[in-house]
Amino acid sequence: MRRVADMFKPLSRPAEMIHDISVLTLLICGVIFVIVTVLLVYVVIRFRQRPDDDGHEPPQIYGSTHIELAWTIIPILITVVLILVTSRTIGEIQNREMPENALKIRLVGHQWWWEIHYPEYGIITANEIHVPVSDRDPEKARPTHIVLQSADVIHSFWVPQLAGKTDLVPNKDNEIWIDPYEVGVYFGNCAEYCGTQHANMLLRVIVDTPENFQKWVDNQKAPPPPPTTPLEIEGERLFFANSCVSCHKVDRTVSQGVFGPDLTKLMTRQTIGAGVAPLTHENLWAWVKNPQDLKVDCYMPDMQLLPKEVDAITAYLETLK
Ligand code: CUA
Repeated sequence: MRRVADMFKPLSRPAEMIHDISVLTLLICGVIFVIVTVLLVYVVIRFRQRPDDDGHEPPQIYGSTHIELAWTIIPILITVVLILVTSRTIGEIQNREMPENALKIRLVGHQWWWEIHYPEYGIITANEIHVPVSDRDPEKARPTHIVLQSADVIHSFWVPQLAGKTDLVPNKDNEIWIDPYEVGVYFGNCAEYCGTQHANMLLRVIVDTPENFQKWVDNQKAPPPPPTTPLEIEGERLFFANSCVSCHKVDRTVSQGVFGPDLTKLMTRQTIGAGVAPLTHENLWAWVKNPQDLKVDCYMPDMQLLPKEVDAITAYLETLK
């Protein structure tokens, strides 16, 4: 479940550029480490205390201009090289012009889940970002441009194989872009401590072929089938009779809450509770019964529902697909 994404296998241009300078920095630091270690080991062995030492201090040398200049100028040069390379990469990532066809997403961080808007399509979802696959070839590329916002505290977007960490700051719009080269599920998480459930603020980027992405979009926009079985209908009644509606949104209904995740297409997701558990019947039931069991201190309270009410509400939620 909690797969750690491999930051040494970047699969998107911003992640590749960051990977390249990381390798360069590591290489420079590695060379310095080896030189210092070799010198240190040589000195320790060559000038160790011997049995016939007379106990006198060795001659003390002060004020060698050459040595002092060398150990001042060389580190300054190395640091300047690292600063230049890093700022060039930051600039290249931040100033990249997005092509006309770029997919636009607005990502809002909440304690402790992700709200995802597709303004072009009128879609709102949570915790799983669907994007079309892009390409190294600019002719065929379709990058995704993401505006990052926060509803409460500072969070940080981090999907290691796609892009560097970028904070989601209240009252400030940050921007990033990704252009995944391969279809698949990319794992990410919040990378800035944001409260008790920070570690369970997980994120997935699901990269589809353009056709499958379009299918996903069409499905997200289509209304879910109406509840049919008596249990589903009872669940719908209970859902609207309880305070579920004050926090959650189900499109085309009176349920228009915005405090919790949009549930319109809940069943099209892979996980619940921002990645805390796979979306299965058992886990959904347990979540509706008492979310605090799965995610302590999350903002969805135990609604004190009876088991048969949980059965019905779960059945209704399972029609949202
Ligand atoms: Cu959100 Cu840590």
